[in-house]
Amino acid sequence: MTIVGASSPFEAPSVDDDELREVEQAIQRAQRDRSVDHLHVLGLGEISVAVGWPTETPRFVAKRLLPLADVGDARRDADAIVSFASAIEGGGGNLVGTDVRLLHRDDGAHVPYLLQPIVPRSALAETLLDDDPVDEHPAFVALHDLVTTVGDGRFAIDPQIPNFAWHDDMLWLFDFSTPMTYDEHGRFNANFDSGYSLLPTVLKPVLKREVAKIFEYYRSPTQALTQTLVFLRRIDADRWVDPALLTFNRRLEQPIVRDDVDALYERQVREFPRIKNLARLERAWQEKVRRRPYEYVITDSFSGRVL
Ligand SMILES: Nc1ncnc2c1ncn2[C@@H]1O[C@H](COP(=O)(O)OP(=O)(O)OP(=O)(O)O)[C@@H](O)[C@H]1O
Ligand SMILES: [Mg+2]
Repeated sequence: MTIVGASSPFEAPSVDDDELREVEQAIQRAQRDRSVDHLHVLGLGEISVAVGWPTETPRFVAKRLLPLADVGDARRDADAIVSFASAIEGGGGNLVGTDVRLLHRDDGAHVPYLLQPIVPRSALAETLLDDDPVDEHPAFVALHDLVTTVGDGRFAIDPQIPNFAWHDDMLWLFDFSTPMTYDEHGRFNANFDSGYSLLPTVLKPVLKREVAKIFEYYRSPTQALTQTLVFLRRIDADRWVDPALLTFNRRLEQPIVRDDVDALYERQVREFPRIKNLARLERAWQEKVRRRPYEYVITDSFSGRVL
């Protein structure tokens, strides 16, 4: 176990392997049944599932990543997350206290988990969007400052408002389970050799291209903050788009273009279901041809519905 964000007011929970095993079994059940009704779901992401545990009265959040057959691959994935977390902290970012863990399953698979405290709803940055929009909101100023200083071209964060706690006038990132790192040519360092080794070969190049395209977009502060605005539209906080854009543009060297926000949003509405359909194809292939369980909950990126 490795704790990151150790100086955060949101302290990493202490969870033993037996309890983590129970979480794992409940998530496997969700994958088998294609239903999360028995879980306390805090968020269904593009890659991870964030589950509150225990279900009745959650004490912590468990974020589960893709299981790996090879322990070396699993360690590498977990280490990559820890290095990414250190890079963010080194660049001045604040993280919610997180235990980066590997669960070694009886069937020989190794599952990376991120374990976090439950940030109370009132401390989620997302709740500020319930208020009437204001220009120069300190959270958006802080977000600009973070995005323009944290990366050095070799890594980037996903600066959507719902990825942060807002506490003590500071942003605390809790979504860093997908390291966005780039090589010296600015190309996304895709880790397709471990987690994605389960993919059928026909799908691999297509998914790889799509994912790299999405992640490369975050490399420049202007584009990363454009995604912040796109995401505001995705969570029905459209009325915050213009005030946030003004706040960002007063500070950015290269301003965000409003039309780009809308074009990108429209593109995501078109493209994300296509990616999810590829994942469903992959699931059918795994289950019917390879006859093994599909270790991933596929969800609609917009409604959160389980597919
Ligand atoms: N520690 C936490 N406390 C409270 N709520 C949380 C916590 N972590 C996540 N959540 C809720 O769950 C949502 C999804 O979690 P998170 O942003 O970490 O991953 P994701 O975006 O679902 O994953 P991915 O990066 O795979 O797309 C958050 O937007 C937030 O609403
Ligand atoms: Mg997120």
